[in-house]
Amino acid sequence: MCLQILLVLVALTSLRPAIAQKESHCETSCGSVTINYPFGSGKDCYYSPDFLVTCNRSLDVPTPFYQNTDLPITNMYRNTSEIEVMVYVAKDCYDNFGKRIYDESFDTYYSMTLTNFRISTKNRLVAIGCDTFAAINGTIGNESVSTGCSSTCGGNSHIKNGSCSGVGCCQVAIPKGMSSYDFSLTSFNNHTNISDFNPCSYALVVHEEKFNFSSNYLFDFRTTEMRPMLLEWAIGNETCDIARKDTEKFLCKGHSECDRSYEGPGYRCRCSEGYEGNPYIASNCTNINECEQNIHGCIDQANCIDKEGTYMCSCKKGYSGDGRKDGTGCTFDKSLVVEISICTSVSVIVLLILKLMGCLKVADAWLRFLVTQSFDHANIYELSS
Ligand SMILES: *[C@@H]1O[C@H](CO)[C@@H](O)[C@H](O)[C@H]1NC(C)=O
Ligand SMILES: *[C@@H]1O[C@H](CO)[C@@H](O)[C@H](O)[C@H]1NC(C)=O
Ligand SMILES: *[C@@H]1O[C@H](CO)[C@@H](O)[C@H](O)[C@H]1NC(C)=O
Ligand SMILES: *[C@@H]1O[C@H](CO)[C@@H](O)[C@H](O)[C@H]1NC(C)=O
Ligand SMILES: *[C@@H]1O[C@H](CO)[C@@H](O)[C@H](O)[C@H]1NC(C)=O
Ligand SMILES: *[C@@H]1O[C@H](CO)[C@@H](O)[C@H](O)[C@H]1NC(C)=O
Ligand SMILES: *[C@@H]1O[C@H](CO)[C@@H](O)[C@H](O)[C@H]1NC(C)=O
Ligand SMILES: *[C@@H]1O[C@H](CO)[C@@H](O)[C@H](O)[C@H]1NC(C)=O
Ligand SMILES: *[C@@H]1O[C@H](CO)[C@@H](O)[C@H](O)[C@H]1NC(C)=O
Ligand SMILES: *[C@@H]1O[C@H](CO)[C@@H](O)[C@H](O)[C@H]1NC(C)=O
Repeated sequence: MCLQILLVLVALTSLRPAIAQKESHCETSCGSVTINYPFGSGKDCYYSPDFLVTCNRSLDVPTPFYQNTDLPITNMYRNTSEIEVMVYVAKDCYDNFGKRIYDESFDTYYSMTLTNFRISTKNRLVAIGCDTFAAINGTIGNESVSTGCSSTCGGNSHIKNGSCSGVGCCQVAIPKGMSSYDFSLTSFNNHTNISDFNPCSYALVVHEEKFNFSSNYLFDFRTTEMRPMLLEWAIGNETCDIARKDTEKFLCKGHSECDRSYEGPGYRCRCSEGYEGNPYIASNCTNINECEQNIHGCIDQANCIDKEGTYMCSCKKGYSGDGRKDGTGCTFDKSLVVEISICTSVSVIVLLILKLMGCLKVADAWLRFLVTQSFDHANIYELSS
């Protein structure tokens, strides 16, 4: 009655890091998936066996596989240190007489090998069925934990699409830091009396954003399709401070720093503020040109000037301030305004006096002199014409 799906994530004890960084022969993509160090495909291309990606190019669409398994990788997110792999669904089916139906996808044993990986808390254990109990147990560090959920229903009238909340479908959060688990699927009454609309129970660990329950799943949840699960990773099992002592092996080099906000186990690199690139490859974090990419905080009245690792805002002539949206911005230079207005008023007064005195020629000369000065003379022009 109890279908055991084992997913054993055995800790690898031998960790031989490829100290040689990404070599030129290394593949950078497989199908539509971009492969970045510490992941790699081929000799000397990956950091440790955990990060091996096997690309099968003889398939219609070249497909990357997680390590040496048959689990395809569908996404790799470097910024969140996550990869999405497709995994199998557990299944437990009965006929109208309560007799278990065995098929090829029944009672399968899966195994994965992880040291640097954890099951992301963005996953859920989901159980589908009206006579269903699913439990997951696993380990966090060296301690075991377990949780689960059950769903029973005598009919299908209260099943709602999009709602996995206990009727026909239940779900439970995955504890943080799980590095190994197995899950089991149990039926209480062999789906007796409900097999017309729900002959099977299903259980899966799935990325919560990519699962939306449908009432159709009770009758047929296509288990030939694999479902996406998120794994998160870090390098090794040591903290930043301990890992950095091995300068040769330590990966955060150049404008790359060890991410202290990550609590481990292991460490993660990230490019320093103002730099972008692959923080796990030496010298790959390069300056971001905030001005060119238009991601700076300068106000429109300021010029943006790119600097190594940062940028500066410079107010245009006649304005002062730091030019920043979150700073003082740019304001008219008061001393300059006062200077110009005093000069202008003095000039206008002189001009008027000269005109009144009938010295038109001298006034004209004075005006021409003013025009050659670097002030704004529009008002003087208007006045004289
Ligand atoms: C950390 O990794 C090393 C090498 O892979 C291993 O020998 C050691 O037992 C690990 N330590 C812990 C606390 O898991
Ligand atoms: C690639 O896929 C084909 C077709 O499924 C299979 O026959 C072959 O063994 C695979 N190659 C590798 C290296 O896994
Ligand atoms: C990570 O990158 C993806 C695109 O590749 C983006 O959608 C996502 O918001 C980013 N997440 C973070 C936390 O930066
Ligand atoms: C359920 O099925 C199993 C295996 O087919 C059988 O051993 C068990 O007696 C059945 N239980 C009920 C309540 O029908
Ligand atoms: C899960 O629980 C079962 C039964 O209690 C036990 O046999 C198994 O060893 C546990 N697995 C893990 C990984 O703790
Ligand atoms: C689990 O590991 C901690 C340190 O990480 C240790 O203190 C504890 O004794 C270990 N427990 C067992 C049961 O091995
Ligand atoms: C749920 O949606 C499917 C189509 O996606 C539809 O066939 C089914 O009738 C819907 N079920 C309910 C209870 O609305
Ligand atoms: C899930 O499906 C239901 C109906 O089938 C839909 O209304 C809902 O928006 C979907 N939710 C997500 C997150 O896709
Ligand atoms: C199935 O239905 C029959 C007839 O209504 C009833 O006697 C029996 O108790 C039901 N079995 C279960 C497990 O609900
Ligand atoms: C950074 O690494 C990528 C491959 O991951 C490569 O394409 C790029 O040229 C490298 N950039 C620098 C500046 O080394």
